[in-house]
Amino acid sequence: MLTPEENDLICRTDKGTPMGEVMRRYWQPFLISDELPDPDCDAIRVRLLGEQLVAFRDTNGVVGLVADACPHRGASMFFGINQECGLMCIYHGWKFDVNGECTDMPSDLPGSGFKDKVRIEAYPCIESAGVIWTYMGPKEKEPPHPNFIFNNLPQENVHAFRVPIYCNWLQSMEGNIDSTHLGTLHVDYQDMHPVDLEYDKPDTYPSGAFVRYNLAKYRYARIDVQDTSYGYRLIASRPTDNGNQHVRTNCHVLPYSTFIASPGKGGSVLIHPPTDDENCYRIGIQFRTDRPITGQERRTITMAGTYMESDGKTRKNREENDFNVDRWAQKNTILSGIWPFADQDYAIIETMGKIFDRTKEHLYQGDQAIIRNRQQLLKMAMDIQEGIDPPGTGNNNDIPHHLIHSVEKIIGPDDDPWFLEADAGETTEKGQRTR
Ligand code: FES
Ligand SMILES: [Fe+2]
Repeated sequence: MLTPEENDLICRTDKGTPMGEVMRRYWQPFLISDELPDPDCDAIRVRLLGEQLVAFRDTNGVVGLVADACPHRGASMFFGINQECGLMCIYHGWKFDVNGECTDMPSDLPGSGFKDKVRIEAYPCIESAGVIWTYMGPKEKEPPHPNFIFNNLPQENVHAFRVPIYCNWLQSMEGNIDSTHLGTLHVDYQDMHPVDLEYDKPDTYPSGAFVRYNLAKYRYARIDVQDTSYGYRLIASRPTDNGNQHVRTNCHVLPYSTFIASPGKGGSVLIHPPTDDENCYRIGIQFRTDRPITGQERRTITMAGTYMESDGKTRKNREENDFNVDRWAQKNTILSGIWPFADQDYAIIETMGKIFDRTKEHLYQGDQAIIRNRQQLLKMAMDIQEGIDPPGTGNNNDIPHHLIHSVEKIIGPDDDPWFLEADAGETTEKGQRTR
């Protein structure tokens, strides 16, 4: 439970707010590279951290992200003509390059030189892991480029997607660090039958079917939170039929990236950059460290993902149609009655209100990771007002991001889950447990 002031402090990210300034110290993923498919393709609107922007890919293939409002008299650059290394406003023809420089002003008197005095707000962009990232903070505070495990893999080993979420970024992100909803919200009744029980032995990466069975059977988990240099590891341990432990470890990287527990050489991360205070994006990146992601796997990811309207921007399932909940399915096939899978989460988080009122909740032991995350966010919001750089930025950027990865494994009854694949320097000392 938070006070109204604390809730506002960590939820609101417009320019000038403490959390907005924290966010602006990080590289923000905001588009999938394929959304700007070719040089000189159509510009598209982007809303990020409450700012209305336009993205375009110039003649050289370089991505630009500029203010939507033309600095002349505010016409929307969305209608701009993208050609010859710049985006031209269609009102009076002022043209800007990816750096924000005005490169042409054909409607000005010849020889005036006024074009050299104006520029449009422009944020630097890079492309990595099939995603376009931008940095919106102070130039002198720009952190190193994203260097996660997936930023270092060949493109064919990575699959990225982007989904619009119609609520504040924090309640969407809190779903990723809420392990105990897995045995309820996401249950498919067919998962309740024992399958793949041969995985139920120590030091084994379980199959997906075994995981679903065990989550459906053991709906509670012991939750531990292990503070790290980058945020924390959320360690959720469940019993198994053979008396072992089913351990799921999510690495949560401040401010909003969660490596979701997964077995073996695969992995996924969910990132939640705020669109504005009442919307955000879910950028998902799935990866394999050992081989390319197959076409079939890409198709499976897409089919399990959210269904979009024909405009390509609006989700089919949303609050105004009650997420197309199927009451027959709820009794007979899947507990939520909502499909596809990810929309089960969206139905919950988007009907809490645009910004959930956290003064009204009742948290229990299963919410420890959510509580700790809020404490860390509050600290970042306070620290930045004192001039202290957030983790991974400024003078505080020696984190081995490329070693961070989640894990899901069966271990013996007496094994300690804190020791599992703590490769990014996470402590394994038992004494630091939260309880
Ligand atoms: S408003 Fe854009 S050129 Fe005049
Ligand atoms: Fe979920």
